[in-house]
Amino acid sequence: MTTIPPTAAPTPTDGPVPATGSGASAASPLPASTVAAARRRSAELERELAADPGRFRVMTGDRPTGPLHLGHYFGTLHNRVRLQDLGVEVFVLIPDYQALTDRDVVDRLAETMEGLLLDYLAIGIDPSRSTIFNHSAVPALNQLLLPFLSLVSVAELGRNPTVKDEIAHSRQAAVSGLMYTYPVHQAADILFCKGNLVPVGQDQLPHLELTRTVARRFGERYAPVFPQPEALLSAAPLLLGTDGGKMSKSRGNAITLGATADETARLIKGAKTDADRTISYDPENRPAVSNLVLLAALCQDRDPYEVAEEIGDGGAALLKRTVTEAVNTRLAPIRARRAEYARDMGYVRSVLREGNARANEIAERTLDEVRKAMGTLR
Ligand code: TRP
Repeated sequence: MTTIPPTAAPTPTDGPVPATGSGASAASPLPASTVAAARRRSAELERELAADPGRFRVMTGDRPTGPLHLGHYFGTLHNRVRLQDLGVEVFVLIPDYQALTDRDVVDRLAETMEGLLLDYLAIGIDPSRSTIFNHSAVPALNQLLLPFLSLVSVAELGRNPTVKDEIAHSRQAAVSGLMYTYPVHQAADILFCKGNLVPVGQDQLPHLELTRTVARRFGERYAPVFPQPEALLSAAPLLLGTDGGKMSKSRGNAITLGATADETARLIKGAKTDADRTISYDPENRPAVSNLVLLAALCQDRDPYEVAEEIGDGGAALLKRTVTEAVNTRLAPIRARRAEYARDMGYVRSVLREGNARANEIAERTLDEVRKAMGTLR
């Protein structure tokens, strides 16, 4: 048996485990050719989606590590609502067991999960069409983990580039077994409901590949119970935080969906810019300024070059005013809905309960097929 590679020593300057799945990752641990192939296939899938949305079952999820922010919104959330409204069946998972890989969030788990539910409802996930559920409430899903683990080697688990990257950036002293096995758990997330399309950022491609491997090997060893799901890569450009670094709540550089207009204004006021008075869109040479321009452009559904030109000699002050106004205008209806739902937490919790009931039903059915395929008795 191959041994698990040694842990990379955590460095004090590293941030927390990156909030993955948020559309794109700055430094991809993957070869460019892998990403290019996934991009080409995603373009094809978009055409198939437009032609026949009913053929797809989408599985998505956000590790409950903190409140959702604009990076999530433009990276994945917006796309989820688009798919839902296209007529695709969408499952939104809150992978609370996966959150155990970042130990420090566990004590705030309930609060974080309620925040996620509010965010989902506020952006337009419609519980009458989409299913929101969480890991720990669906035991039959988790039961798939054992047969699935038997289908992958320890060497494969250790080779996963996203896991390696997370370990390198982890602040934890020791690497848990869950760190190596959560991608297999993720395969169970996707396969229990026979999801065939997973909208992801680049960092999730290795997990999707593993999911396909598990589905295929299960079919080879037992019976073809599972489809081989495909990745739908997000086309959204990477949004940075207000300090020009990776957008992350724990770095204090993220505009969360639930923040007030004043908090938003304050954060943008303190945003990093540069000394050149003329505003331009030039992500390569002026990352901080260009990121603000991009943020305004995304919020207004406009072209960033056009936004930059309009601000022109107005400098950083006009840029920041434009961005603040654009963000607050875009988020106003979302924030209003969020506040409304927050007044009725009984309803919000019932959304999760009903989603879990539906997920349980599907998971039980799949587990029955799995038992039959494996020849286990009960
Ligand atoms: N790994 C994803 C993340 O870190 C979350 C996730 C867990 C997920 N299970 C999933 C995403 C299933 C899509 C499908 O954000």
